[in-house]
Amino acid sequence: MAEFTEIVKDYFTNAQVSKSALMDLLSEFLAVEEGGQQLYEKALELVFDSEVKTKFREFLKQTMTHQKVLTEIITRLGGNPRSQSRTAKIATMKAQSLLRTMGDRGLSRDQNQLNAMENIVLAETKDHADWELLGKIARQTTDARLRDVLAPAAKNVEQEEDEHLNWTRKKLGELQMAALSQNRKLDASGNGHDSERQTVRPAVESKRPRSTSKPRVKRKSGTTNHKARNGRGSRSSH
Ligand SMILES: [Fe+2]
Ligand SMILES: [Fe+2]
Repeated sequence: MAEFTEIVKDYFTNAQVSKSALMDLLSEFLAVEEGGQQLYEKALELVFDSEVKTKFREFLKQTMTHQKVLTEIITRLGGNPRSQSRTAKIATMKAQSLLRTMGDRGLSRDQNQLNAMENIVLAETKDHADWELLGKIARQTTDARLRDVLAPAAKNVEQEEDEHLNWTRKKLGELQMAALSQNRKLDASGNGHDSERQTVRPAVESKRPRSTSKPRVKRKSGTTNHKARNGRGSRSSH
């Protein structure tokens, strides 16, 4: 949800929005919710933390409700929810790209859980921004009909979007820290967790190999090498 000061400012700002551009955006936002549904369904196959599973089931249900809310908004504003705008098609492609990274065989069970959660954070960042924008439009629009359609929907959904994003982001951080701690223990026990990882050792200065060549003769600037003349030379210390 937008910050309080921003919300107050919105009420004192009047905006006229392009109807056609708004309909394109609404189509895109619906595609984001549809992609979100697919991402949650896939994530639920991969996450095993019980708290994450419970929350993701709840968020999936809410995401499906958001689709209905958007479908109703589009219909009430005279649009066709089944026709996709170009940006809606792009949003669908983005979700498909995230889906392709999920359940990778090269990742451990832990890594697949973390990756699934990270993808949810990415998708929810967009979803959250979408509803924040709809709330802003509802507050700023001079079109009373548009305000009536958007305001109640945005008010309800924005709070849920706050939780989708904030809870998942926080939990992801906790699980990442736990995984790092666990891997640290594996490192200490000598059972590395990732065979593909290459260890970079700090550079250790090796002892200079014994040189077979004559030692360098330290010369003072402006002086000549007297070794050849008197048979003595100062050897530089190493
Ligand atoms: Fe949503
Ligand atoms: Fe969401």
